[in-house]
Amino acid sequence: MMHEQWLRKRAIIKSLAGGEFVSGEALAHELGISRAAISKHVASLEEFGVDIYSVKGKGYKLSTPLSLIDEQRLKAQIKGRCFYFNDINSTNAFLLNHVNELSSGDICVAEHQSAGRGRRGRTWVSPYGCHLYTSFYWQFSQGMSQAMGLSLVVGCSLVSVLRRLGVDGIGVKWPNDIYLNHKKLAGILIEMSGQADYECNLVIGIGINLSMSAAQADKIDQPWSDLSELSQQPDKTELMIALQQQLVSDLSLFESQGLKAFKQRWREADLFDGKVVKLLMGDNSVEGICCGIDEQGAILLDNGNGIKAYVGGEISMRPL
Ligand code: BTN
Repeated sequence: MMHEQWLRKRAIIKSLAGGEFVSGEALAHELGISRAAISKHVASLEEFGVDIYSVKGKGYKLSTPLSLIDEQRLKAQIKGRCFYFNDINSTNAFLLNHVNELSSGDICVAEHQSAGRGRRGRTWVSPYGCHLYTSFYWQFSQGMSQAMGLSLVVGCSLVSVLRRLGVDGIGVKWPNDIYLNHKKLAGILIEMSGQADYECNLVIGIGINLSMSAAQADKIDQPWSDLSELSQQPDKTELMIALQQQLVSDLSLFESQGLKAFKQRWREADLFDGKVVKLLMGDNSVEGICCGIDEQGAILLDNGNGIKAYVGGEISMRPL
């Protein structure tokens, strides 16, 4: 789609950001286009997942508030390049396709993903403007064997950033989910290319739920949360800037000192620390008290006969 068409759509969203109904006529006047053109843009935004009420006689209204990235401000405030898109297939796919031209710290950010990827081959629902979709590039000197630990580092980075921006009730679930009030708020998908034990290209994809509409929520098959219920919402651009900076500093720390530098931060953020958990691994499962992580990033469970480390699986909380 032409850049100019996106500028109009963005202008419509900004006019509706106040949360009130705005008439088609007022929008048409403001943008200097016809009411019919406004109605086409609205219909197209709806195809990109924006939930807009349109009521005869009243006009248009966003069903949930949403904010868009301020591209200029973002680019001015990060070291490293930013590739910003209104629409892309997947920010992870974009960076993976350009690894040879990237430097550590470069990011890709999009307002909509047509083929957002989740872990385990799932799709990541990515309606326009509603959430934060970003990927971060890092050239990693230590090869893929360290990757398990990496996702835990990124979890710690996310927790630090969100807490610093005033979000309470944030925690991690091993190995890489971020929870708010015990429901999933953000996901991490790390993809790599390169040699197994030599320099490799890391693409760290992060999706953070900011403002979910009811229509989009129906497509999600697990309990979720977003930041819209908070009294004070972090600014989306601010969040992106803080996240990029935190990742640069945490990944450098991880490269120089390994996962041991994060052990304490992980335990403080771990929602399951000291709790009885059940770890599901294919058809098998084990139970034990969760006692943090080891230096490879494996989860440590105490089953009464000592502490054992596990690297695979999904945690599920054992019902009391
Ligand atoms: C998960 O399943 O928990 C991981 C979700 C990761 C989603 C993000 S959104 C930005 C980046 N681009 C993608 O295609 N996926 C990741």
